[in-house]
Amino acid sequence: MKITVFGTGYVGLVTGTCLADVGHDVLCVDIDEDKIEGLKNGIIPIYEPGLEPMVVRNHKEGRLNFTTDAETAVKHGTLQFIAVGTPPDEDGSADLQYVLAVAKTIGQHMDGYKVIIDKSTVPVGTADKVNIAIAGVLAERDYQTDYAVCSNPEFLKEGAAIEDFSKPSRIVVGTDSEQVCELMHECYGPYNRNHDKLIFMDVRAAELTKYAANAMLATKISFMNEMSQLAEHLNVDVEQVRLGIGSDPRIGYQFIYPGCGYGGSCFPKDVQALARTADSAGYDAQLLKAVEAVNYRQKETLFAKLQRAFDGDLAGKTIALWGLSFKPNTDDMRAAPSRVLMESLWEAGAKVIAYDPEAMNETHRIYGKRDDLTLVGTREIAAEGADALVICTEWKAFRAVDFSWLKEKLNFPVIVDGRNLYNPEEVKKAGLMYYAVGRGD
Ligand code: UGA
Repeated sequence: MKITVFGTGYVGLVTGTCLADVGHDVLCVDIDEDKIEGLKNGIIPIYEPGLEPMVVRNHKEGRLNFTTDAETAVKHGTLQFIAVGTPPDEDGSADLQYVLAVAKTIGQHMDGYKVIIDKSTVPVGTADKVNIAIAGVLAERDYQTDYAVCSNPEFLKEGAAIEDFSKPSRIVVGTDSEQVCELMHECYGPYNRNHDKLIFMDVRAAELTKYAANAMLATKISFMNEMSQLAEHLNVDVEQVRLGIGSDPRIGYQFIYPGCGYGGSCFPKDVQALARTADSAGYDAQLLKAVEAVNYRQKETLFAKLQRAFDGDLAGKTIALWGLSFKPNTDDMRAAPSRVLMESLWEAGAKVIAYDPEAMNETHRIYGKRDDLTLVGTREIAAEGADALVICTEWKAFRAVDFSWLKEKLNFPVIVDGRNLYNPEEVKKAGLMYYAVGRGD
């Protein structure tokens, strides 16, 4: 099938590459010339395990191509995926300018039947707006053709994007067109072999499904973070509670890990956008607002614990950070808890010495060169001579630690663990003070 994908960010590039990998003829288009040039030469703008060789192989074999030429792109595919960014507006609602710009571009160059597929996370009602944008341009051109706009939200996770795309739990499609159903069956057929994963529904329901899924997962996390705070007040170990409730299949073990707050490009943005959507529909979404507020407070917990450990005096201290990305297996720093911590530390006059397996370039790009930030090449160098150690991201490489060695290297025997990686008894036995999340420090 001939497929066009607008946008070579996370979702667009993974979608295009995976669809090419199962044999479709995919053209990815982006306005960023450097990015497209890079992709043609096998340079991947993001860190995502397994993506680079897949891009290179499919490009070499001719099924995956890249262009900045919108006209060629629109003419290429019967299916036109829109996978461009929807950054938050000033009030937190999703900014649709890029999505609508692509819709107009498609309208300008359309030369026959096309299915326009909203893949980006977009608020309820966006398909109608895309439809209106295309119809407007077609009217200006005085050109008539059939087309359909449908919603096909993506549920992949960063760091596991290829696996998630290739083995989806479900493929949600919002449409009322028989023809679109057939074409989407053909597009996703290779992923749909064992049992039917396609769920067809109304367009607006598909749009809301995407937000509802992320909001539900964020709610689970904020709920557990709230329990972690309560556990601290009651001198209870929240990890025991986690095991106790996760064993109930109605609750499940997934997404109930307490931590230092959820980050990334999706949960914070989507929970906020859904709350704004509710506001503008005249409904006060109190639960969503609470989920957001709890997360905001949770991100401050690492700093609060450090303050407690140092009796409020962090000025002049050097704090080691292990992990900077918002979660492991990505270099993504968007809404990362480490940023809230670093910024609070700097405000308090402390210095940061940090190590992350992937996110150091990104950190440097965001904060530039500054005297109170040192990025180093190993976790050991970061810890050596620091006043305290904070775990911000649960990278695998931080799991096994020689605590006696750490005790010797740190100026003060303090570990603040934002991910509950260690056995408190073991850490304390080595003579270190251990401040974890909800573990009654
Ligand atoms: C999330 C969803 O999981 C995907 O299904 C969705 O497609 C994606 O957003 C999106 O909308 O594009 P992602 O942001 O890549 O994926 O990351 P997650 O693995 O879901 O983690 C999000 C945050 O929650 C991280 O900061 C993580 O540390 C935190 N988290 C996760 C917890 O604090 N506790 C948990 O138990 C699980």
